[in-house]
Amino acid sequence: MKQTLYFASGNPAKAAEIRAVLPEPFELVTLAELGYFEEIEETGTTLEENAFIKANFLYKRTGGLCIADDSGLEVAALGGRPGVLSARFAGTPTDDTSNMVFLLKQMEGLPREARFRTVIACVLPDSTRHFFEGVIAGQLAECIRGHFGFGYDPLFIPEGFDQTFGELDPAVKRSKSHRTMAIRAMLQFLTRQQ
Ligand code: IMP
Repeated sequence: MKQTLYFASGNPAKAAEIRAVLPEPFELVTLAELGYFEEIEETGTTLEENAFIKANFLYKRTGGLCIADDSGLEVAALGGRPGVLSARFAGTPTDDTSNMVFLLKQMEGLPREARFRTVIACVLPDSTRHFFEGVIAGQLAECIRGHFGFGYDPLFIPEGFDQTFGELDPAVKRSKSHRTMAIRAMLQFLTRQQ
């Protein structure tokens, strides 16, 4: 029998990445597929808080198994910024290219170690909440490179590679990304619950 995961995100690229690694019997149903098009305000100060706000928004409306991901790029030389502010780093409205250009300016002369971190919040039908984390370490490129992915992908060179996520085959990102790691941890937990 299918197990539906209600996914509180309006980002089709995130949904596609998750669907690509989701085994049977799980299926992902997104906000848009449920007819919700309103922006969920991310008022938290941590990835955990924002992931929960989004998952709980959907839980209140469906009562089902609801998940949400909040992710950010954490740059060591910037003390972990932009982190939870990744989407709005260069201001609003959110724009991936402006964010990357702004980040490159901040990085002049600084060491380039960075990591992506995802936190997935999962609210079960019994209303208990659970959190799962995924991290991938890497380096920031000197300029924007490649067209694959979204967000800061064209700047991020994962450890062990010379190309950015924007240049690498998307299968590489799907196999080892922060989001995939967090999803795998969540699936292990959900499978044990069954
Ligand atoms: P969100 O709040 O989790 O939707 O993500 C915040 C921001 O982090 C996004 O707007 C992107 O700029 C960035 N981000 C999140 N996940 C990724 C990713 O997998 N690759 C590149 N950038 C990402």
